[in-house]
Amino acid sequence: MKVFGVSGSPRIGGTDFAVRHALHLLEEKGCETAYFSVKLKKIEFCLHCDYCTRKKEGCVHKDALAEFYDGLIWADGIVIGTPCYQGTLSGQTKTLLDRCRAILARDPRVLDGKVGMGIAVGGDRNGGQEVALRSLHDFYIIAGVIPVAGGAFGANLGATLWSRDQGGEGVNRDEDGLRSLRKTVKRFHERLERITG
Ligand SMILES: Cc1cc2nc3c(=O)[nH]c(=O)nc-3n(C[C@H](O)[C@H](O)[C@H](O)COP(=O)(O)O)c2cc1C
Repeated sequence: MKVFGVSGSPRIGGTDFAVRHALHLLEEKGCETAYFSVKLKKIEFCLHCDYCTRKKEGCVHKDALAEFYDGLIWADGIVIGTPCYQGTLSGQTKTLLDRCRAILARDPRVLDGKVGMGIAVGGDRNGGQEVALRSLHDFYIIAGVIPVAGGAFGANLGATLWSRDQGGEGVNRDEDGLRSLRKTVKRFHERLERITG
């Protein structure tokens, strides 16, 4: 079971910590993992130039996202973590999702049937984590990825973490948030086992 973890935070903070923690838990369950962070990467916005839909050869931009595309295609499961900015995804995370138009235009089935989960990290306890998770799930649905959450009683839409604006240290102290992460990872792994047989 191959899992690709993605952090949409521009720094080594709570999102990086949470995604790496999820990957660590999945490695303990026998998964092979790879990690991609937007930190210090030069990533272009989608220009809506329609190069991808006309040519069906990927994106017109040849930038740091080649590694991101490769990771998504390689994986059986995808873990996307985002900080909450203005009550939703970070702009960096949104740009990653927009830029997936390029690989989906080349092959609309490229991500079909993979499993996806989300992690959202806010400086406030209720700072838009669920809105961010819903946006990740919407992306998964559009891309043909099966969205997985941790279930009722603690992780309804996925992993919701509260950093108190203290990065990884804050997330590491958020026991309720870490529980939501563990519950989501558990369900994600169960679903991965089912799809990989
Ligand atoms: C531009 C910006 C907007 C933010 N907006 C929110 C917000 O709407 N809700 C929230 O809970 N935290 C907000 N924060 C705080 C971050 O979500 C919080 O510090 C989080 O830990 C950042 O993730 P990171 O530690 O992975 O960098 C914002 C931070 C920035 C830089």
